[in-house]
Amino acid sequence: METTVNNNDTFYYPSKEIVRHANIKNYEELYSQSIADREGFWAAEAKKLDWYKKWDKVVDDSKKPFYKWFTGGKINIIHNAIDRHLKSATRNKLAIIWEGEPGDLRTFSYHVLNREVSKFANILKSMGARKGEVITIYMPQIPELVIAMLACAKMGAIHSVVYGGFSYEALAERIADSQSRILITADGGFRRGKATHLKSIANEAMKRSGTIEVCITVKRTGEDCYMENDRDFWYQDLMNIPLECKDCGTEIMDAEDALFILYTSGTTGKPKGLVHTHGGYAVYTASTFRNVFDIKPEDRWWCAADPGWVTGHSYLVYGPLLNGATIMMYEGAPNHPYPNRWWQMVEKYGINILYTSPTAIRGLMRFGASWAQRHDLRSLRLLGSVGEPINPEAWKWYHEVIGRGKCPIMDTWWQTETGGFMITPLPIMPLKPGSCAKAYFGNEVGIVDDHGNEVKQGEEGNLVIKNPWPGMARTILHDPERYIEKYWEKYSDKGWYLAGDSARIDEDGYYWIIGRIDDVIKVSGYRLGSAEIESALVSHPAVAEAAAVGLPDDLRGNIIHATVILKEGKVANDKLAEELKNHVENEIGPIARPSHVEFTDALPKTRSGKIMRRVIKARALGLDTGDLTSLEE
Ligand code: WTA
Repeated sequence: METTVNNNDTFYYPSKEIVRHANIKNYEELYSQSIADREGFWAAEAKKLDWYKKWDKVVDDSKKPFYKWFTGGKINIIHNAIDRHLKSATRNKLAIIWEGEPGDLRTFSYHVLNREVSKFANILKSMGARKGEVITIYMPQIPELVIAMLACAKMGAIHSVVYGGFSYEALAERIADSQSRILITADGGFRRGKATHLKSIANEAMKRSGTIEVCITVKRTGEDCYMENDRDFWYQDLMNIPLECKDCGTEIMDAEDALFILYTSGTTGKPKGLVHTHGGYAVYTASTFRNVFDIKPEDRWWCAADPGWVTGHSYLVYGPLLNGATIMMYEGAPNHPYPNRWWQMVEKYGINILYTSPTAIRGLMRFGASWAQRHDLRSLRLLGSVGEPINPEAWKWYHEVIGRGKCPIMDTWWQTETGGFMITPLPIMPLKPGSCAKAYFGNEVGIVDDHGNEVKQGEEGNLVIKNPWPGMARTILHDPERYIEKYWEKYSDKGWYLAGDSARIDEDGYYWIIGRIDDVIKVSGYRLGSAEIESALVSHPAVAEAAAVGLPDDLRGNIIHATVILKEGKVANDKLAEELKNHVENEIGPIARPSHVEFTDALPKTRSGKIMRRVIKARALGLDTGDLTSLEE
């Protein structure tokens, strides 16, 4: 990669090799076409998939903002992610290469993946699973997690994957909200050399939510765990039952039928179950993955995200399988037993594209370049980043040390709500460290003020999307009102989608994401809500009131700072602060553990009683607290 200086910004240009290799060579021209004829663009992308029946209408906007895509079309994402590959040479290709943290290795060809998914879909049916019901999955990063997701989709059930790092409260709440009757879990997984105890957490969650009738547990660690008669079954036992028909037909679905729900944190306490569909989501993830990561049949793709988050859904599982790609998947911690673990795997498996988060990069950067330099990383061609803004220092380290100065970095901006990449570079684009470059095809992005006027170049504003796109979440499960209120109300006169991020655009038309403007906190790229953490704190018997804010952190992007008012007679001390941190960890999970707990007598509030988190944050950082005229006390 050559570098040239332009307007005080350093542009990083792709090599001739990268350009020659690229699927898309003329972004500007294609982009203009995709905006001029959005439906035409998406129809052409949709035609690259197999449909049981072609759609009647590309987009139906008769009930805005509840857009529908490819209405009248019949499809199943599994037919495209697995079934159709069985008719070509892809059948014999590796679909998944998986390495466990202890070093065990398992591989699945598309043929074998189909067999496992079909068998498990049949088992789900024989256990009473029905088309259209929500099945909860709570698992470590093992191949059965992917098999379970695909099996649900194949038989027409809706999967709801809950991140394996969440604790029983969070799991119970998600099970209850979706009224799941079936839970798929594992005894545990391996992380930093230790076994986790997922089944015990699942047991506790089942006790609380009360809806689970069947729980299927994968044996991974072999640790003892309680299994309840008539409710709990071992996955391996079920898979060994010689069912008459091992082949399971793929259910024919409407394009708009739900494929999965995924819970994500918002501004209020209750997590939102965002709904994604078989048709539009398949078209969107297939298109974005193919074009942005320039995937070729010989590539080995590694998305290091956990499937429990949207990145894992769209770009560990669906996008790659829809394109017949080979996926690398790894169970454990990046620095176990040593900080070269990832680089060892890149070398061993000949990985061509690596997609991860700025937090992971910063975490590995901390150990120095020598851990990476002792490995041959020449197989890498492209790199990716997601989840939070990447600071230029980490971008440059990733580019120089991991990419040997030769691999363009695709910094992809998107959200659980968007289903796939919205603003992203393509391999042929000149790059600026820290910028996610330009809008993906079909999307018009605006940076606007509170009244909807475009802000000046270089100024900060609200990030909006001015058009519908096939990968958009269709609603919030059981709460369409909240879907409107959260995303569409602010600019309802214009019909724009409010992303909840602030951003700016520079003189070259490149976008720079600044961060969340709401009370969502991104810790290590994981999305948490202030209100979730606050309600966990308030559930402790000593706490009367609490406020949680994110403070900037060099490694994790943000850390959680909690301010707490104690109940009468409770004494503030270090021991209690520690106890409260543990309490939040038990209630939500280790990622939500506050780094600081501070005790106070009063929280700054507006006259209408809303906590002014902005003021708490400024105080914690020792900054000017700004305009306090609306403060109550
Ligand atoms: C942030 C993750 C800067 C952003 C896919 C967004 C990013 C939130 C980037 C969504 C990026 C994601 N640069 N910020 N490349 N990608 N974000 O739903 O604040 O877990 O709103 O989806 O992550 O988080 P979510």
